Amino acid sequence: MAIVTGASQGIGRATARRLARDFSALALVARNEEHLQEAARQAKSIGAESLVLALDLREPAATEKVVNDALACFGRIDALVNIAGAVPQIDLFEMTDVEWDDGMALKFHGACRLTIKAWDAWKASKGSVVLLSGLAAWDPKPGFAAVAATNAAINALAKAFAEQGIEDGVQVNSVSPGAVMTGRRQSFFEKRAPAHNLTVEEANKKYPEESGISRFGAPEEIADLLAFLVSPSAKWLTGASLRMDGGEFKGI
Ligand SMILES: NC(=O)c1ccc[n+]([C@@H]2O[C@H](COP(=O)([O-])OP(=O)(O)OC[C@H]3O[C@@H](n4cnc5c(N)ncnc54)[C@H](OP(=O)(O)O)[C@@H]3O)[C@@H](O)[C@H]2O)c1
Repeated sequence: MAIVTGASQGIGRATARRLARDFSALALVARNEEHLQEAARQAKSIGAESLVLALDLREPAATEKVVNDALACFGRIDALVNIAGAVPQIDLFEMTDVEWDDGMALKFHGACRLTIKAWDAWKASKGSVVLLSGLAAWDPKPGFAAVAATNAAINALAKAFAEQGIEDGVQVNSVSPGAVMTGRRQSFFEKRAPAHNLTVEEANKKYPEESGISRFGAPEEIADLLAFLVSPSAKWLTGASLRMDGGEFKGI
């Protein structure tokens, strides 16, 4: 069975649908229960049973519940795809300590706690963990400083877990998507477009042109990569920080 966090929408929802082809059981985690139930219905129509866990992963008790309920329900945990994230996209010089802490509480500490709490279960199943990072980690800018710093920390965290995983038989990788069209990306354009005297449609069109990519990515494309990483075919791939960004980052 596989745990998918952030499964209520966006990349997480697409990943739940994709993993439903490869796993007979899923645990779907996010806060919005209605959206999770819809994700569970979609997974069921593809072939997987789902345990729906409507929880706020910033809370330490939520992690305990995810792991305990998944083990109680399915007896084992084979994979974690940790996607939940809501790091504020606020300028470095405007961001408050509270906003920094809130972003880290979910994306960094949530991922770290969940990986540690289920480590024994992955040791037993020789399981696989993928932590979602983001392209900003590779090319930090002041407008996305918290996103960049948090994602860079995720990449380092995944490598540290992977090192221990070589001894324990647990595979750990991180994935950095570039610009993927989801609700989070759309709301970013809705906020930023007026400040640049653009309509949302114009801002949507301008971004790929200015970033040197042919188009936005689709959540399903990231989901396919995540599914590969937790599949038997990728078993020797560990400790990697993979980018999937349509060629946006040109560094080596
Ligand atoms: N879209 C992109 O271009 C892009 C690029 C790079 C990296 N990423 C990363 O990819 C991940 C998913 O992004 P997305 O674009 O798919 O965003 P999204 O559509 O906003 O989805 C975010 C997910 O996180 C969940 N979440 C938010 N706060 C939570 C909390 N406190 N506890 C539990 N779950 C919570 C949300 O569900 P609820 O609201 O129901 O809780 C939702 O399922 C994020 O980590 C993001 O940083 C995205």
